[in-house]
Amino acid sequence: MEKLRFMLIGCGRISKNHIAAAAANPEAMELCVVCDPVTERAEQKAAQLEGLTGKRPLVYADYQKALDEQEIDCCAIATESGYHAAIALACIRRGKHVLVEKPMALSTRDAEQMILEAREKGVTLGVCHQNRFNDPVQQLHRALEDGRFGKLVNGTARILWNRTMPYYEQAPWRGTWAQDGGTLMNQCIHNIDLLQWSLGGEPDTVFAMTGNFLRDIEAEDFGAVLIRFKNGAIGIVEGTACVYPKNLEETLSIFGETGAAVIGGLAVNRVETWNFASEAPQDKEVEALSGKDPHDVYGSGHNALYADYIRAVRTGEPPLVSGEEGVKGMKIILAAYQSQKTGLPVQYDAVDFATTDMENSDVRYQA
Ligand SMILES: NC(=O)c1ccc[n+]([C@@H]2O[C@H](COP(=O)([O-])OP(=O)(O)OC[C@H]3O[C@@H](n4cnc5c(N)ncnc54)[C@H](O)[C@@H]3O)[C@@H](O)[C@H]2O)c1
Repeated sequence: MEKLRFMLIGCGRISKNHIAAAAANPEAMELCVVCDPVTERAEQKAAQLEGLTGKRPLVYADYQKALDEQEIDCCAIATESGYHAAIALACIRRGKHVLVEKPMALSTRDAEQMILEAREKGVTLGVCHQNRFNDPVQQLHRALEDGRFGKLVNGTARILWNRTMPYYEQAPWRGTWAQDGGTLMNQCIHNIDLLQWSLGGEPDTVFAMTGNFLRDIEAEDFGAVLIRFKNGAIGIVEGTACVYPKNLEETLSIFGETGAAVIGGLAVNRVETWNFASEAPQDKEVEALSGKDPHDVYGSGHNALYADYIRAVRTGEPPLVSGEEGVKGMKIILAAYQSQKTGLPVQYDAVDFATTDMENSDVRYQA
């Protein structure tokens, strides 16, 4: 079977995980083009991939030109979040499969448009929520699917990280309403996605208090969010970029009538609690999942995410994190922003909101 021909659009901080994923899936894909208007960055990535695979991809500054000149099946988008929707739609309209970094867009309308047009064109839309592929998270999901928790009661997503001003200054789009959002949208979205996935995937109501306490950015650096799910379960989010002096943990806890699981570590990678009324063969494997932290908080889930995405393109079945799935975490966060702005709980299904709707709403904390 011919390899799928990928183009990577955006060669910044996260692009190394896309390069590594390309190198990890050599039978199924070839990353033929790396693209960035800052061509030194694209050149660097080309060299990195060449070092790993022996083959150097072409470098382009303009992804539209690359689409005109090269045969591309799939576009992976890793630009500033504010550009995701426009670039994804341009690629979808040219009949390309699209794998987009999180958050897939910064407004519910854009995300819905991406999903609609991908469906109409018959192309595969995937979103990079790679933590769904962490081994402990996969085990947790199996336990949920097997009904081992009984009636679900609650779950908690705690993202206790530190992002200092040099992190924001290094890429000034971060923390802006037009290009990013705050810590909920940038850092916490992965764990919010896991929380919603674990608690049934159908949010009903969202209520939030957010604030900007310590960082000189437009958007929030702390957010507390309550999510009521349609099955009754309640999700609680505690997300911060302000933990002194460095990243502490990213933890997902799920509690039900007959089960309790806590997956912690630096990035939801270590089983800390695994208690169930009934034993299952998988429990023996769980001890092995209390392993080491990844070398950075991004982990190595992109490799498995790419493998799953390629399977989806080949079979026409949805990837694990399709557009329809990827939108949920983003939409919960936009509901949280709307709730912060209005002071009221928000009906998830009715959310029609964008990060830019937060412009001029002061989230700065004043004692
Ligand atoms: N999945 C994860 O764990 C994870 C981790 C970090 C970042 N991200 C997401 O990845 C995206 C990029 O984040 P980053 O930290 O790498 O940002 P970054 O600022 O380091 O890199 C973005 C790059 O995109 C390039 N770019 C902008 N417009 C372009 C265009 N039209 N064509 C090609 N390239 C273009 C920029 O020049 C820049 O080099 C963001 O959406 C972020 O939320 C995901």
